[in-house]
Amino acid sequence: MKKRVCVIGAGPSGIAAVKNIREEGVDVVAYDANQDVGGNWIYNEKSSHSSVFETTHIISSKTLSQYEDFPFDSSVADYPSHQELYTYFQSYAKLFDLYRSIKFNTMVQHCKRIDASKWEVTIKQNGIERTEEFTDLVVCNGHHWKPKQPTYPGVFNGEIIHSHQFKKAAPFAGKKVLVIGGGNSACDVAVETSRISKKTSISWRRGYRIVPKFIFGKPSDVFASKIAFIPTAIRNSLSGLIAKLIVGPNRFYGLPKVTHKMGATHPTLNSELLYKIRHGKVHPKGDIHHFDGAKVHFKDGSSEEFDTIIACTGYVLSHPFFDQKFIDYSSGPVPLYLKMFHEAYENLYFIGMFQPLGCIWPGAEQQSKLAALALTGKWKRPKNMKVLCKREVTHPHIKQIDSSRHTITVDFHRFLKDLKKQISKKRKNSA
Ligand SMILES: Cc1cc2nc3c(=O)[nH]c(=O)nc-3n(C[C@H](O)[C@H](O)[C@H](O)COP(=O)(O)OP(=O)(O)OC[C@H]3O[C@@H](n4cnc5c(N)ncnc54)[C@H](O)[C@@H]3O)c2cc1C
Ligand SMILES: NC(=O)c1ccc[n+]([C@@H]2O[C@H](COP(=O)([O-])OP(=O)(O)OC[C@H]3O[C@@H](n4cnc5c(N)ncnc54)[C@H](OP(=O)(O)O)[C@@H]3O)[C@@H](O)[C@H]2O)c1
Repeated sequence: MKKRVCVIGAGPSGIAAVKNIREEGVDVVAYDANQDVGGNWIYNEKSSHSSVFETTHIISSKTLSQYEDFPFDSSVADYPSHQELYTYFQSYAKLFDLYRSIKFNTMVQHCKRIDASKWEVTIKQNGIERTEEFTDLVVCNGHHWKPKQPTYPGVFNGEIIHSHQFKKAAPFAGKKVLVIGGGNSACDVAVETSRISKKTSISWRRGYRIVPKFIFGKPSDVFASKIAFIPTAIRNSLSGLIAKLIVGPNRFYGLPKVTHKMGATHPTLNSELLYKIRHGKVHPKGDIHHFDGAKVHFKDGSSEEFDTIIACTGYVLSHPFFDQKFIDYSSGPVPLYLKMFHEAYENLYFIGMFQPLGCIWPGAEQQSKLAALALTGKWKRPKNMKVLCKREVTHPHIKQIDSSRHTITVDFHRFLKDLKKQISKKRKNSA
């Protein structure tokens, strides 16, 4: 039967999917609600899919953040800005003539799996809804766009926003700002607002290790990749020790002690936060106890008034185009083999739905190549798929602390290796 594949999303993962599936000679159409490729990297001051802000630069370096089929230009910075990334994704789409396979301003509303070779996909284009049929569905809708909102007892009568809505620091000039979280959003946002706010504080509910963006003059992930041959647990301990030697313990900065191993939380890379704290521009606070009007009461008994709270509390996995009882990974676990194959639905693929300790799109590129081989029958699904899917949940690459943000973590190097192993093995078999 002739395949006709639908890709949802034309962000970094979706364009890799279109390219690699088309290169295997399969008919593919991508739908994206945006007006261009780039996904999260299309910065927009208004509310949109994107969660990047005016000054965002990535935390994975360009060396380890490029498609193997399309290296960055040498003029691009070590840690590219969102503008440089947008240009990069546009250039990739132009070079491989992907635009002709992508329908923009098109929202996928609903996907219904009829059987092993048929999907009904309902789309909305220019206000008009229609349903198209496909044999296979490839989901690349991203996982950093639906805010995870924290709740606390009491009522805060100032302004509360989520980092998804934070676009630039300017609106916070002269304000007393409380940033919640210890991830990359929180630390980036606190640094930015501290430049112009009356006061910026940051609330952490546990201690986090802040990894500088450069170690011995090299981007931190490039430095870490030199020891990628060492087993993950030992490598993480070594990296943690090096990071601690460089920045010192958290108590020097008034921050909670780190009680977990490196890798046990998604890493926070930031070379400015600790500097800002020691310059009295960002003020560390502990976890929040409750709200009372303009006042925030903290668990250590202290309290303070704020004008604005920016909750940088992460994102929820969301697939609003599926019926909830069909697929719902919003509160984990995510039992997908190689984070892409479902145990039962052979004509369903997820691409880019993993959280590496590194960059997403090199992994999405390899997943796309494997999906293309699966679609053409050159790669055969293992017979024990159910066991393999279960194993993804019971044997994660890295043991992490119990937090809802840690349901799809992979070790960047090991994940690429596992995908490439499948790709090469099956290619040899089919040759
Ligand atoms: C501030 C910030 C910084 C980040 N920095 C890094 C970094 O340094 N390195 C890194 O690897 N990752 C980083 N990320 C993670 C980011 O998710 C990835 O970089 C990357 O954007 C993932 O690509 P994607 O294509 O999977 O998803 P996205 O970029 O989110 O793209 C998904 C696409 O799907 C479309 N879409 C979604 N739903 C529908 C629908 N129903 N119908 C039609 N279209 C739909 C969207 O319009 C969008 O274009 C960062 C995220 C944030 C928020
Ligand atoms: N410059 C960049 O490249 C950049 C910038 C921003 C984001 N990103 C990426 O975007 C993704 C999302 O990052 P993120 O920082 O937005 O989210 P995140 O990694 O999920 O971090 C969320 C933070 O909020 C905390 N938190 C969650 N719920 C809370 C609650 N109810 N009360 C108190 N604290 C709470 C979490 O604590 P726990 O640890 O206890 O769960 C964690 O510290 C990541 O992949 C990140 O690397 C990159």
